[in-house]
Amino acid sequence: MLAYRHAFHAGNHADVLKHLVLAQVLRHMAAKDKPYTLIDTHAGAGGYSLEGRYAHTKDEFQGGIARLYQRNDLPKVLADYVALVREFNGGGALAQYPGSPAIASLLLRADDRLHLYELHPTDERILRAFLGSRPHTTVGLSDGFAALHKELPPPSRRGVVLIDPSYEMKADYAKVLAAVREVLERFAAAVVLVWVPQLRTLESQQLPQRLQNSAAKSAPKGWLHARLTLAAADARGFGLLGSSMFVVNPPHGLHDALHAVLPFLVETLGQFEGANFLLEQQAA
Ligand SMILES: C[S@@+](CC[C@H](N)C(=O)[O-])C[C@H]1O[C@@H](n2cnc3c(N)ncnc32)[C@H](O)[C@@H]1O
Repeated sequence: MLAYRHAFHAGNHADVLKHLVLAQVLRHMAAKDKPYTLIDTHAGAGGYSLEGRYAHTKDEFQGGIARLYQRNDLPKVLADYVALVREFNGGGALAQYPGSPAIASLLLRADDRLHLYELHPTDERILRAFLGSRPHTTVGLSDGFAALHKELPPPSRRGVVLIDPSYEMKADYAKVLAAVREVLERFAAAVVLVWVPQLRTLESQQLPQRLQNSAAKSAPKGWLHARLTLAAADARGFGLLGSSMFVVNPPHGLHDALHAVLPFLVETLGQFEGANFLLEQQAA
């Protein structure tokens, strides 16, 4: 039984980092004429209301997109991401937040392919209604990890894989690692984006290093790891401290683009004095 619903978290600081990186990668992919495929293994509902009871349960978006939406002094790459969120809101006030499928639908070109997987039946239904009729798009009510073997290599030999589980179950950490290994075995040139929560658990702390070890062995263009630490743990040691985006075969220029933005995000989204960022990269 899946309890996680992304509607409670949409637009929080973790979404800001994730979707900022996703947008940059998709912009890079569009710089070449040849079409590509985006496989989103954990797609969610596609887009989310920020006005309903889900978003207001914890008001997480107030610590994320809401702090950026009205600003006109954003670094270029951040301004580009916020412009996409504004576009999703029809240029008006912040009332809804685009999930990864919506960000993709704003950036994919007519010939690019979008393959979405979502296991929660309600979210999958919303996603299908939203994007199911987009050309070159498939929506599967099935396990995104298990789908990778049939998805790769993509027909055009250009592909991006976004792996963004909820980590509701500890097994997700091992599954993410196995999925990245499988992607690299089947299609070493894939650009793989993995979202990793920053928690005080061994699994969360070890995953970036494990991903680095795998990518160092088999990714032709190496890896990049961007982490934002924005909050302190609560008295019991719980809570989301921040998150990482781990990128296998990162596009040229991504490191410099993030270097110009992460200090601004620490300043703007940080919730405690120790807020900080880490940006590391290894070219193959
Ligand atoms: C963090 S949310 C995804 C958010 C989305 N990628 C975005 O950025 O807007 C994770 C989603 O994965 C779904 N899920 C959990 N296990 C899954 C699996 N094995 N395959 C596909 N979807 C899964 C959950 O129901 C949830 O909607």
